[in-house]
Amino acid sequence: MNFEFKSLSLTAAAKSPSDHLIVLISDQFQAGKDPISLLFEKALKAKDFSSKAGKTLHAYALSGVSASKLSLVGIGEGRAADVKIGLAGVVASMKAAGTTKSTLVFAGLTSRQSVQAAVMAMADGTYAYATTLSKPNPRKLTQVTLGVQNVNAELKSAFTAATAMAQGIEFAKEWANRPANHATPTLLGKAAQSLAKSQKITCDILGPKDVAKLGMGSFMSVAQGSAEPLRFIVLKYQGAPKTEAPIVLVGKGITFDTGGISIKPASEMDEMKFDMGGAASVLGVFKSLSVLQPKVNVVGLIPSCENMPDGMAVKPGDVVTSMSGQTIEILNTDAEGRLILCDALTYAERFKPKAVIDIATLTGACVIALGAIRSGMFATEDGLASALSQAGEEAMDLCWRMPLDEDYAESLKSNFADVANVGGRAGGAITAAKFLHRFAKKYPWAHLDIAGTAWKGGAAKGSTGRPVGLLLHYLLSQQVSPSSKTAAQKIGK
Ligand code: BES
Ligand code: MN
Ligand code: ZN
Repeated sequence: MNFEFKSLSLTAAAKSPSDHLIVLISDQFQAGKDPISLLFEKALKAKDFSSKAGKTLHAYALSGVSASKLSLVGIGEGRAADVKIGLAGVVASMKAAGTTKSTLVFAGLTSRQSVQAAVMAMADGTYAYATTLSKPNPRKLTQVTLGVQNVNAELKSAFTAATAMAQGIEFAKEWANRPANHATPTLLGKAAQSLAKSQKITCDILGPKDVAKLGMGSFMSVAQGSAEPLRFIVLKYQGAPKTEAPIVLVGKGITFDTGGISIKPASEMDEMKFDMGGAASVLGVFKSLSVLQPKVNVVGLIPSCENMPDGMAVKPGDVVTSMSGQTIEILNTDAEGRLILCDALTYAERFKPKAVIDIATLTGACVIALGAIRSGMFATEDGLASALSQAGEEAMDLCWRMPLDEDYAESLKSNFADVANVGGRAGGAITAAKFLHRFAKKYPWAHLDIAGTAWKGGAAKGSTGRPVGLLLHYLLSQQVSPSSKTAAQKIGK
């Protein structure tokens, strides 16, 4: 899908050639003398339309309008949420009708937020999964022109970031949606390698022998019950000078979670193909980075394997040694995410990172705590926590900070190892975070539990691509600017 951004008056929009012209009308809109304004005024008078968010009016073959279909869409105050509400229905009808070319124009005020919301609504609403369908119904929309009254640098940069973000979200959705037999650890590795075609991105894939050499006994114990070989994916994006410490993203890449010997019930177990949602979000972010090329250094780490029950599988009560040297008593083999992440968190130390953020579909308890609206966010530093919260707000990809008090670690005590991999049921999302915290002492660290937000169940079953938006906005906020250069850099030493 190709997005174009330009200045477009309503008079010009009426003449622009497309199948479907959508006019976003905010409360401040002042009608002019063009055919769209005239329709607006008539509809307003007849009480068939207003600028209230979510109101729509459709017209067909309207005289003076080139597009065969015209939709007026109310967006109220023009906030991002208003644009999202306003466009939801229109974009769904566009998908059903198979529209190929559409023009969206803001009549009245425009902001960074509303431009991003419009791009997201178009991309998100027309996405169609195709990979494993014999008769796929792929997206028909190929060309979207987004018009504002006056293009300026601020709106243009918001538009560019939003289209890059949309591509990253789509990449994440695509990989998360693929069934486990079409998204094995090996195939995830290939997806990561395909991103390294971009100049600024490199990719290394470690296999079982490399991981054994590193001493990742915890990660290996999860993989040992599966016939699929594990992969440890290392992606690097260099957009800033090498001297800038990178931000490390660690994505949980369990391509299928049966629970292992502590096996899960059968109902809805298919959804455990989404247990690599964290990994998919890291791949998605790298996709966006490859498009946008911001001035920041990023490392992506993806420990990936299946969690299967088998004669070789790890058993409840087994004790394993993690890469950090800490021993772990595996009381429940279904708490496998933390077992693969802890070794990746130790591996992350070698990059002397500015911050490490892990992203994981980690606990059912987080779904109970926060539902599908906000991801759980844990952070060891207030600055990191507020930067992530703000990034979530900007991207409309919300999170909520949860606690990391030491008292929550009590229940992880073990008689046979340094730590147990589960506590009790109470505060399950927090005890999981406290387990990870033991392995993240050498850098500022945050953990995003996306168990409730990474995918939707039911009739609309599918990946959401979250939290690619949040992560990308965070990374963009961490770019090196010339003013933040050290004195030595400024004078060119
Ligand atoms: N992948 C699951 C978490 C999950 C469950 C995400 C349901 C989304 C929906 C994770 O590996 C898991 O099984 N966690 C256990 C931990 C428990 C054994 C302490 C859980 O949440 O039940
Ligand atoms: Mn599990
Ligand atoms: Zn899992």
